[in-house]
Formats: sequence, structure tokens, C-alpha cells
Amino acid sequence: MSLIQISESDSKNNKRKTIGIDLGTTNSLVAYIKNGKPEILEISNGKYMMPSIVSFNSSGDMVIGELALLNQYKDPLNTISSVKRLIGKDLSELNNYHCKLTNKNNLLEIHTDYGVFNPIQISSEILSTLKNIAKKTLGSNIFGAVITVPAYFDDSQRQATRDAANIAGINVLRLLNEPTAAAIAYGIEKNYEGLYAIYDLGGGTFDLSILRLSKGIFEVIATKGNTSLGGNDFDMNIVNNILQEYSIKEISITSKHEMLMLAKIARETLSKKDCFKFQFNINNIHIDKIIDNEWLENISQNLIKSTINYLKIALQESNLTIKDIKDIVMVGGATRMPIIYNNVKSFFSKSPLIDIDPDKVVALGAALQADLLSGNNNDQKWLLLDVSPLTLGIEVFGGLVEQIIPRNSKIPTFRSQEFTTFRDGQTSIEIHIVQGERELVENCRSLAKFKLDIPPMPAGIPRITVKFQIDADGILDVIAIEKFTKKECHISVKPSYGLSKKDISNILKDSIENKEMDLQKKSIVEAKNNLNKLIFSLSDKVLLENDLTQKQEIDKYIIFAKDILENSSSLEIIQDITKKLSNLAKNIFVSNFHNSIKNLNNNNID
Ligand SMILES: Nc1ncnc2c1ncn2[C@@H]1O[C@H](COP(=O)(O)OP(=O)(O)OP(=O)(O)O)[C@@H](O)[C@H]1O
Ligand SMILES: [Mg+2]
Repeated sequence: MSLIQISESDSKNNKRKTIGIDLGTTNSLVAYIKNGKPEILEISNGKYMMPSIVSFNSSGDMVIGELALLNQYKDPLNTISSVKRLIGKDLSELNNYHCKLTNKNNLLEIHTDYGVFNPIQISSEILSTLKNIAKKTLGSNIFGAVITVPAYFDDSQRQATRDAANIAGINVLRLLNEPTAAAIAYGIEKNYEGLYAIYDLGGGTFDLSILRLSKGIFEVIATKGNTSLGGNDFDMNIVNNILQEYSIKEISITSKHEMLMLAKIARETLSKKDCFKFQFNINNIHIDKIIDNEWLENISQNLIKSTINYLKIALQESNLTIKDIKDIVMVGGATRMPIIYNNVKSFFSKSPLIDIDPDKVVALGAALQADLLSGNNNDQKWLLLDVSPLTLGIEVFGGLVEQIIPRNSKIPTFRSQEFTTFRDGQTSIEIHIVQGERELVENCRSLAKFKLDIPPMPAGIPRITVKFQIDADGILDVIAIEKFTKKECHISVKPSYGLSKKDISNILKDSIENKEMDLQKKSIVEAKNNLNKLIFSLSDKVLLENDLTQKQEIDKYIIFAKDILENSSSLEIIQDITKKLSNLAKNIFVSNFHNSIKNLNNNNID
């Protein structure tokens, strides 16, 4: 029976709808692709940024965004802001949060009069609001989203962000580092190429990345940053300095919060005006101070210097100098501060780029990446490259490591290698995936193991192709296929899981320190493997041998060789017996060959 076509396939109308979300500490944005170009979605009344704030109205209902921002003044203790600073973190890592925080079952809790919430719940409310805004323009079936996170977010902060998105019913196509998203926006929209430094100073985080943009490839060279350094810290500096100047030691949480909000207004005003009149009443003391950018720069030296230090370290670690950097891309609202712009400019002796709005650039890049991952545009020819920090390989006979993807390989990457069996009639092979720079499996990190069943065949006949593929998220997929039977098995692992930068550098240090010893051990294992193979093939020949003296001779050597295999670790002795055995095998082959010729001739005479 043949199939009947029901309707014309219309891939154009069936395009998957995707969004890019910049989930910021202070503000969040959502973007999508309109007629091939990324565009920010309007939140409401011509505004494209939504304050990342959650609060409660007089009826106790949760309000999010602009409405919650208004509450920040009226009811600060029931207004949850900067939740990105809390997500995936432990109580012991936090200080200076304006709401009461506790720990329950290793989960942080934020206390308000309207209930107790964890940071994942609050982030999910923000994400859900953004998703609903997108639905209004794009329709209900949004395929998925790319959500940006600071490059310096660790595994638990990333996982918590993913959890928040899942609760909000968002299919996360990828978490993308914020500076990389900015580079994508510049690379794609402006066709820029070369080495770029991305300086991202937002409300709560500072991120610094160096990327190489060339022919549609985005290669991350270095990332540095601090998840607790942003506009908020400049505000805190302003407040602390003024309190000190007016000798105010005691201040209620509410007053401090109000002062911080005034400091923020002052700082933002100083981006457009020369000075700001800071007026505030506290404990019967009237603060009345005119502040300007010079004063702000003076009291912010520690913060400015800290960001410039990250720049220096990133350059040093990548063996680059200021001259190698083609341009500096400014990202984040706090880079609008003249004191930041001017300091970065004088460090590089070059004006940083602000062609794309620093507020929007991350969300625009996320939308471009989401569109790429949707699979809508197979003709898009740009890639995002990162590197896999340690070598990945599999265990081969004798406990040795066969390296498949060497360290520092650009990801995504794909490599494959063919293997065979060692023993006759083997019915399964074990694929043991290891990570590390050492020659022996026992010194490497075991990532996963799986078994591939194969039909019994003589040793050396099966052809097992092992394919290693690392995707752009760093997930390793290993597939093993037996060529003749087409049987296959596969497994996915995240090689970087649970590994800190320090662990990685320790692994590398160990491999350098033990290189000589490892190579020696490797030679012994390889020599033993050769000898083992020879013993196997000679053992078969013994069974077929008619000449009794010859048989005894071979047996004698096999027993001797087996003893050496078990008890010796001297390369010389192993190589010596291997040589003797292989000469013996050669002699047997030659004499068997002569006998066959003789028999053949005799048969011919008959
Ligand atoms: N004109 C301005 N002058 C000075 N600072 C500004 C200006 N506009 C915004 N900011 C500051 O930018 C910060 C918010 O930046 P942005 O919206 O990029 O942060 P975010 O993306 O929410 O935070 P993060 O990237 O840290 O998660 C706030 O501290 C705000 O005060
Ligand atoms: Mg940001």
C-alpha cells in the first residue's frame, strides 16, 4: 500500500519559534528574530527592560517587573530584587541581603510577610513573565530559549538557572555566557573579525572575556570575572562613604535600602549630568551633599582597579598584550558610567565600542544563538567554539589509555578510531571512557563504562569503531559500533562535571611530573601485550605440531614466557624472550612451509 500525501510540507511556516533571554540581576530582556534580524521585545509602554524584581500588592498577590519596582520604595522588605546574586548559592557565601535569609535542607530561603521563597522560585517567576510577554507577540508555541548567564557562574548556579526555567515551562536550548552572547551580536550583526575583549559590568556581576571572531567562528580565549561586582557595589560604596562622612554608625535596614536606591539614582544621573545633590534624612541628621564624577571615581578606585586587574590577568594568561586586542565591547548598564568608560579607554588607549546598545546586546546575541539552535537555518555558517580542557580517551589492553580527543581541542568536535579484539571468541567488549593526561588508566579519571555485545569471532577480526563527539555545551557522546553486525551502544557524559579549575591544573601538573615514569610503564605494558599475542599464536601452533621435539621446545619457551609475563617488569627481559619466541615462530613457519612444498611435489609425482 502506498502513502498518500495529505498536504504540501511547508517548512517556511513551520519554523520553530525561539527566544533569547538576558536574565539580569537588575533588568531582564527578551529578544527574538524578526525577518532574519534580532529584535528586543517590548515589555510594556515602549519599555524593553523588565526590572528583575518580585513583590506583592496590597491584596498579597505577587507582582513582577515594573509594578514590583514601585514597591521597592514603599515596601522594600517584601520586595525581592537581585535574586541572581542568590541563585545556586549557599547562605555562608552571602552577606548584605536586605530580606531575611535562612537555609533549609541546603536550599536558601528568602523570608517575606507573604511567604518564604527560594531563589529558584523567584527566578522562575521572572522567566515565566518574560515567556508570557514573548507569547503575546510570537504565539503560544515557543520551541525554546537560550538563557544567558555570567561566564563565571559555577555548575550549581547554572543548574539552578536551568531548574528555574524548567519550572517556568521553558525548554532551555542552551545556557550561554553573557560576554559570548555580546560577541555573537557584534560578530553577526556587524561582521567584526579579530580579537575582542568583552567588558560587561551589570548590576551585580562583572564578566570579562577575550574572544577571537573569524569567519563566523567564535572562539573563547579567556574568561574572568566576579559574580559579586556590579553597579550595586558602586552604590554601596557611595552609601558607606556618605555614612562615614556624616559619622552615622547605626542605620535601619529600611533606611539603608532607601539610601542605596538614592545612590543608584545619583550614579545614573552622573552619566548625563555633572553633579547630583544627595539629600537624605536619617536619625535626625540631614545629609546634603553635592557629588560629582571626580568624587565617585575617587571612592570607587577599589572597584575600577579590580575590573582592570581582571583584564590584565586575562591578557597575561592568554599570552596577549593590549596591542593584540582589536576592540573592546562594552556591555551592561554600569558601563554607561563615564568613570568606567574613561578608565577602560585609557587602559587600552582606544575608545571602547558602544555601537550596539550595551543594555540590549546580550539579549540580541542570545536570540541569534537560539535561532541557530532551532535548526531553522541550515545555511547559517557560524559556530561557537570553546576548548575541552583535558584529554579524553578509552582504556585499551593492558590498562593503557588510547587518547581520542586531545586536550585543548576546540569544541564542538568529533573524532573516531577503530579497535579490534585481543582474544578469540570474545563476546563483549568493555568501553571504558577516561579523562586525563597520564598514560595508564589507573592514573586517569574514570568517566563511564559500557559494554558492547558482539558475536564470537577470531581475535583481530571484529572492527569496532568508537566515536567521540563533544557538543557546544561540553557534553561528550560516545558511540561504539561493531562494523560487521552493526551492533551499537552509546553513552553521554559531562566530562567537566565536578571538576574545578584547580583540579584541572593539578591533573596537568601531575602529568608533567610523571611523564618519564609513565612512558617507561607504558613501554613495559606494550612489550607485555606483544609477548602475550605471540604466546597466544604459538599456543595454537603447538596443537598442530607433529614433531614431538619441536612441540616440547615450544612448550618450554611458552611456560618460560608466561612466567616472565607474570613476574617480571624488566623491559629488557620481556623484549629478549619476545625475540626468542618470535624467532621460534619464524622457524616453525619456514619448516612448515618447506614440508608443505615437499608434500605438494610428492603428490604431484603420485
Ligand atoms: N545611565 C547609567 N549610568 C550609570 N549606571 C547605569 C546607567 N544605566 C544603568 N546603569 C546601571 O546598570 C546596572 C544594571 O545594568 P544591567 O541592566 O546591564 O545589569 P544586569 O544585566 O541586570 O545585571 P548582571 O549583568 O550583573 O546580571 C545598574 O547598576 C544600573 O544602575
Ligand atoms: Mg547583564
